[in-house]
Amino acid sequence: MYVCLCRGITEKQVVKKITAGVNSVAELQQTLGAGVECGKCCDYMQEMLRAAALETVAALLVEKRSVDD
Ligand code: FES
Repeated sequence: MYVCLCRGITEKQVVKKITAGVNSVAELQQTLGAGVECGKCCDYMQEMLRAAALETVAALLVEKRSVDD
């Protein structure tokens, strides 16, 4: 699925960058070129970043709980 139609950037490409440590829309713009034309994809990229951050926090909480138990 395309995230950025203007640049033909896919969800898979965005996920790969986020997994590699990219944590802001500005960084996605710089590294992928997504979101630099019409900007309509920026909100979705922000949601993807937020979801990834929540997953990371949830994983850390699970890990902490298993250490505490
Ligand atoms: S859809 Fe990404 S800049 Fe237009």
